Amino acid sequence: MSSVFTDAISSLLAPIGDLLEDEGVSEVMINGPHEIFVEKKGLVFKVENQFADEGALVSAMRAIAQSVHRTIDEDNPRLDARLPDGSRIHVVLPPMAKNGTTVAIRKFSKEKLTLKDMISFGSVSEMGARFLDICMFLGKNILVSGGTGSGKTTMLNVLGGRMPKTQRLIIIEDAAELQVTADHVVNFETRKADPLKGLDEVTIRDLVISAMRLRPDRIIVGEVRGEEALDLVQVMNTGHDGSMGTVHANNPVDACTRLETLCLMGETRIPPDAIRKMVGSALQVIVQCNRYHDGGRRTSHISEVLGVDADGNYIVKDIFKWVQTGRDPETGKYIGEMVPCNYVPTFFEDIIVNKLPFPKSNFIAPDWLRDMNKKKAA
Ligand SMILES: Nc1ncnc2c1ncn2[C@@H]1O[C@H](COP(=O)(O)OP(=O)(O)OP(=O)(O)O)[C@@H](O)[C@H]1O
Ligand SMILES: [Mg+2]
Repeated sequence: MSSVFTDAISSLLAPIGDLLEDEGVSEVMINGPHEIFVEKKGLVFKVENQFADEGALVSAMRAIAQSVHRTIDEDNPRLDARLPDGSRIHVVLPPMAKNGTTVAIRKFSKEKLTLKDMISFGSVSEMGARFLDICMFLGKNILVSGGTGSGKTTMLNVLGGRMPKTQRLIIIEDAAELQVTADHVVNFETRKADPLKGLDEVTIRDLVISAMRLRPDRIIVGEVRGEEALDLVQVMNTGHDGSMGTVHANNPVDACTRLETLCLMGETRIPPDAIRKMVGSALQVIVQCNRYHDGGRRTSHISEVLGVDADGNYIVKDIFKWVQTGRDPETGKYIGEMVPCNYVPTFFEDIIVNKLPFPKSNFIAPDWLRDMNKKKAA
């Protein structure tokens, strides 16, 4: 992007310049020119920053749109774009936005989180992290599930970085966000149609088809939101073990159902029952991300998908899950830990055959959890 644009954008965004600079701020939310909130360490606060008026805010958004060859105006009142530093921005104009121009900026963080960071934040236990590492090593198909801003993309980034060195990974995204550090990574980004320039749209589906012809070992679809779900399921079912994606869902079973619903969105002639079976056999592991009310982002479940039972229900077994045991009265932070659920995954044999240091005892639930569950049941 030319520096003229970069300079123009930074001067128009000057009212929130300090927030964009502040590494501690992960998200900036603008609800009209005079109301701005930020997220820091998972918690949301109102700040004093303001734009002079609606006109100043809209001008800034117009410049951002222009810099990515898009328009935001009465005809196109919504914008998805990225700032020069890689931060993701979404804008909705009035009259749809009743508070005035409404914007959210997901800050691009230069420091990428690692599995080690996640362990130190308490987002995943050391054992859970080692297990995820094993799933990556063994090439399990993994679906990362979670609500908005729950940490799905971050988790996918972290997992991608654990891919064995000899493999070729192709990443497909709507807006390039993932930065997987591995030896052999190819990144694709979709393109919106631009009738003025005579450019057609290039969708995730198109890029999955291309990716399949480019000798991938694994494919990642950053965010599965539409009919490309069926392509991902087919990729997973056709020997590209270790492929991954994310979906918006609140728990591991819902993640399967969500993927199935998305598969059915396309013009497919495959009957729903068959799609369900395909989803059940494609998915092997679900990593569920959650944003808790104390601001913490944690991996709430690591589960295995075993397929579909005779009644057509997904069989999903939790291997590890996060259990809350209390709350710190001073900080309000939840106290808890990720524990094994007394379930040995069906691929335990692969762990033994590959001589991976992960004994069966690691899957046994701690006594305190059994006591707690007994008390709950009584
Ligand atoms: N385990 C974690 N601990 C602390 N912060 C985290 C963790 N995971 C993610 N974050 C932070 O939370 C924010 C949202 O993360 P991320 O973009 O991965 O979420 P997402 O689920 O992909 O969101 P969306 O639904 O908008 O795509 C980022 O600022 C990220 O740095
Ligand atoms: Mg994301």
